[in-house]
Amino acid sequence: MTTAAAPHQSNIIEVDMPTWQPNQYLLFETERTRPCHDLVAQIHVPHAKSIIDLGCGPGNSTAVVAERWPNAAVTGLDSSPQMLDKARASHRFHQWITADIATWAATPGDKFDIVFSNAALHWVDDHVTLYPRLFSKVNGSGAFAVQVPANMNEVAHQAMRDVAASAPWRNHFPATSVREWFVHDAGFYYDALSPLAARINLWETTYVHVLPSVEAIAEWYKSTGLRPFLGALPNENTRDRFVFDYINAIRPHYIPQADGQVLFPFRRLFLIADK
Ligand SMILES: C[S@@+](CC[C@H](N)C(=O)[O-])C[C@H]1O[C@@H](n2cnc3c(N)ncnc32)[C@H](O)[C@@H]1O
Repeated sequence: MTTAAAPHQSNIIEVDMPTWQPNQYLLFETERTRPCHDLVAQIHVPHAKSIIDLGCGPGNSTAVVAERWPNAAVTGLDSSPQMLDKARASHRFHQWITADIATWAATPGDKFDIVFSNAALHWVDDHVTLYPRLFSKVNGSGAFAVQVPANMNEVAHQAMRDVAASAPWRNHFPATSVREWFVHDAGFYYDALSPLAARINLWETTYVHVLPSVEAIAEWYKSTGLRPFLGALPNENTRDRFVFDYINAIRPHYIPQADGQVLFPFRRLFLIADK
């Protein structure tokens, strides 16, 4: 079984990552929410009455499902108080739960017509256990629908590891100090869920985001892929220097177009398992 990037599921030291920053995350709200629309478009549960959005963040994904199923009771779940504060402020009428996805998955409780998650499950480990547990939370005729990034081998992601391993930085990053994203390939998810599901729909899309500069790629990743690396560093000044070196590492690979814009390819994996 190959993986989009080797998942790091052992010898992991949890680092104290900078807290989630909703405003930094929402700098690219349109681009980040677009896969959510693409996922929703393929969910065939027309009369869903109950939906949970796992890792709902600032509520952008929750708003998309609520718009598609206006008669459903919608719940957003996230472990970040900062993200949930933003979500609550923007969307007062949904239910918001502060919880850890893995703990919620392991706890008996309510089932939902749609268990939805956009850009969150790669932060949670042990997918061989997690995904069947989340699927078990789906009501009959419902669906489990997930999108995760599958971009860990793109130059802009690999460069984080390369800079961390370089001479000026390697002392800051003992071998197991960075907990990267957990994402497997499509076959892994097929094998995990096909014995349980009536139908599996899997696909990948590479979005080519148009960004104003190479620096914007760093801004993009500061709130996602760079977080585990920045979390291993002791202070703001050191983090800024790491980001500076990171930008210089990726610059030769993202040559501006004729009008100065930079193209940033980003591959994502989609999965829908129908009950
Ligand atoms: C990249 S944001 C995605 C936000 C939103 N769903 C979207 O579509 O843009 C990932 C979210 O997952 C949440 N998250 C990460 N690990 C989590 C966990 N173990 N339990 C609950 N939420 C988690 C983070 O707090 C963050 O808000």
